[in-house]
Amino acid sequence: MEKRDDEGDEIDLQLHLAHSARMYDYYLGGTTNFAADREAAGQAIAVFPSARVAARANRAFMHRSTRLLAEQGITQFLDIGTGIPTSPNLHEVAQGVNPHARVLYVDNDPIVLAHAQALLLSSPKGRTVYLQADVADPAAILTSPELEQAIDLRAPVALSLIALLHFVPGDEDASRIVEHLKEALAPGSALVISHGTPDFGPAEAERITQVYAAAGTEVRMRTREEVEHFFDGWYLLDPGLCPTHRWRPEGVELEIADAQVAAYAGVAVKQ
Ligand SMILES: C[S@@+](CC[C@H](N)C(=O)[O-])C[C@H]1O[C@@H](n2cnc3c(N)ncnc32)[C@H](O)[C@@H]1O
Repeated sequence: MEKRDDEGDEIDLQLHLAHSARMYDYYLGGTTNFAADREAAGQAIAVFPSARVAARANRAFMHRSTRLLAEQGITQFLDIGTGIPTSPNLHEVAQGVNPHARVLYVDNDPIVLAHAQALLLSSPKGRTVYLQADVADPAAILTSPELEQAIDLRAPVALSLIALLHFVPGDEDASRIVEHLKEALAPGSALVISHGTPDFGPAEAERITQVYAAAGTEVRMRTREEVEHFFDGWYLLDPGLCPTHRWRPEGVELEIADAQVAAYAGVAVKQ
């Protein structure tokens, strides 16, 4: 399968290897996944049967948190670890509240770049821009021409790192990245995080970590305290850090057990 980026260069999709974005797409019932992804995702589901429930709950958290921040007046969104487009995407939610909302999407997986067209269908009044970059280099993201096209760092930004940081295994690396990004944002900005945790089922978390490692992706599940640390110095909005489906639920989410999502979510504001 040959794909080309906007410059016409061929994109190497590494279809023989499982990729986290395509495994996640499989959990969500998408079609942008291949044999190696489906095999690894099948193994993940075998050790963590609620992987699909967890993925959908995570996606629903993204919808609720984005809607809230757009309703509270944030007009700029920086979404790192965007994932393969799955409607409604973040810009559709934000622009559903405010058609002028502007979004910079960032991901390091070539498959997301290959499908970025769906992320670029902005409302005419707003703007969406896509940048292929690694969160490990936050300075490159913050100084990119793509960021400049979508975001004014002097005004509040909603930074979402949703289901991303557990793919940054080093604790010091993860803290350095998050602090660098937080530092660059203006007061009134928001930090949105969801993150896998072993707290509700240590044995399942260990097994799922092993499945991802065998597929070539290092995962670091973090405890409540470790995830809360990412928000240091910012004001956590109610209800604080909680399992993804319990963050301002809208009804159906509450039928899910905490162990089925195995992830925390929170939203904090820079004062
Ligand atoms: C589980 S998906 C989450 C997608 C979306 N944020 C959501 O929650 O629905 C994780 C995404 O993070 C991306 N990712 C993983 N490591 C990354 C890194 N170092 N830099 C940028 N993106 C990364 C993957 O390619 C994948 O698209």
